[in-house]
Amino acid sequence: MPASPEQALRYAESHLPQTLAALKELATIPSISARPAPDPEVRRSAECIAAWMKRIGLEKVELLELDGAHPYVYGEHVHAGAALTALLYAHHDVQPIGRESHWKSPPFVPTERDGRLYGRGVVDDKAGAAIHLAALEAYLESGGLPINVKMIVEGEEEIGSDHLGTFLEQHRARLDADVIVLTDTANLASGLPSITYALRGIVIVDVEVEAIDHPLHSGIWGGPTPDAPLALCKILGRLIGDDGRVAIPGFYDDVHELDAEARSRLQALPFDEAVFRSDAGILEGVKLAGEPGRTPYELIWHRPTVSLSALEAAPLAGASNQIVPSARARVGVRVVPNMDAAKVARQLCDFLQKDAPWNVRVTTHVRAAAGPWITSPQGPAFEAAERALEKGFGEKAVYIGCGGSIPFVEPFARVLGGVPALLIGLEDPVCNAHSENESLLLSDFTKAIKSAVHLYDELARLPR
Ligand code: BES
Ligand code: MN
Ligand code: MN
Repeated sequence: MPASPEQALRYAESHLPQTLAALKELATIPSISARPAPDPEVRRSAECIAAWMKRIGLEKVELLELDGAHPYVYGEHVHAGAALTALLYAHHDVQPIGRESHWKSPPFVPTERDGRLYGRGVVDDKAGAAIHLAALEAYLESGGLPINVKMIVEGEEEIGSDHLGTFLEQHRARLDADVIVLTDTANLASGLPSITYALRGIVIVDVEVEAIDHPLHSGIWGGPTPDAPLALCKILGRLIGDDGRVAIPGFYDDVHELDAEARSRLQALPFDEAVFRSDAGILEGVKLAGEPGRTPYELIWHRPTVSLSALEAAPLAGASNQIVPSARARVGVRVVPNMDAAKVARQLCDFLQKDAPWNVRVTTHVRAAAGPWITSPQGPAFEAAERALEKGFGEKAVYIGCGGSIPFVEPFARVLGGVPALLIGLEDPVCNAHSENESLLLSDFTKAIKSAVHLYDELARLPR
């Protein structure tokens, strides 16, 4: 007889301090996957997760290592007989810290302030792993789990999950499941539980422009000498037209307009432009961007877009009157359903290379190309998630899209035969994931643990 959800809830609530302490310990590890693999810190966070899994009684716990990849962690508990099997997913790698001086407390010293826990990776996505580890422990310590569970905690999500294909091939046999549960997405507002039914994909391309082979005095040489940073700026400026649309030829060819159902789903959601502007920190007087005539949620969840996430030529500090020889940028394109990430990568590289000003040398390097994902969120698994979230949060769950990307979702859902994927998470609008002062709302963390306890129980009751 497995434990009842009430027993598990009691255990989870009384062990919240221990769960929080374990999350803090995990968050002290700078598991920045942008560092080349193998990296001792990413490995240490994998080991920390593995130790946590073992501590609560998961079995077959191991680090799954692939050449050149940061380690994945696996653990399972499959003693619930005929009950269904859930594949739980989170990632333990984190983004680089950004501007160190902008952190109010050091990124790897998890610090509580005003009901939030601050630190790099706390909400994206170490809390995602912690929620399930806490809920699993609660059942295992109070009598047993009502479902079978396989848990994967990835180590290379933040750099595009390059080895996912190989991972799937090598470990397919052990991954069979009836439902996938991912805790790595957002809530529409703090305290408002949200189920994500769409993800954009992403294409990341680094572009470099070279014009001369060493810096020159701009007075002695300026005029006839081609300027690499200027050439790059001209090239990048072509990416967006004056109409707010991405100007790459053929870019929108595969993009569908939303159907009536998707539109009404968007219209049902609360939206306040002033709150949106303030959460995003958009400065007074600065206008919203994007294709005209489309709402922010449509633009973020259902339309492709381009952003420049890095740009460098020469630092201002120490700059002299030079002609700078080369310049680099990182271009990120978010793609939506029906777009082919590999095709967009080719279109983007061609566009960046074509008609270079002064025929400067342009090289491109595709760093990631992950496809989009969308599902129609219907059926018993989604209804189970709705009930579990409502019980855990005390609020009815809403369905949302997501402008971000999780490369794992599409291939896994497909390889497992189209099983439902439940995407839930804790990234609220002010969590600052990927930015400085990333934080986790602790009240939502507690509610998410309770929801996970209810979710296992709800899933156990589904007809099979
Ligand atoms: N947790 C995010 C995905 C996400 C973004 C969820 C926004 C909810 C709202 C994930 O860790 C992430 O950042 N993914 C990367 C993927 C990329 C590196 C392939 C992203 O979206 O940039
Ligand atoms: Mn994440
Ligand atoms: Mn992330």
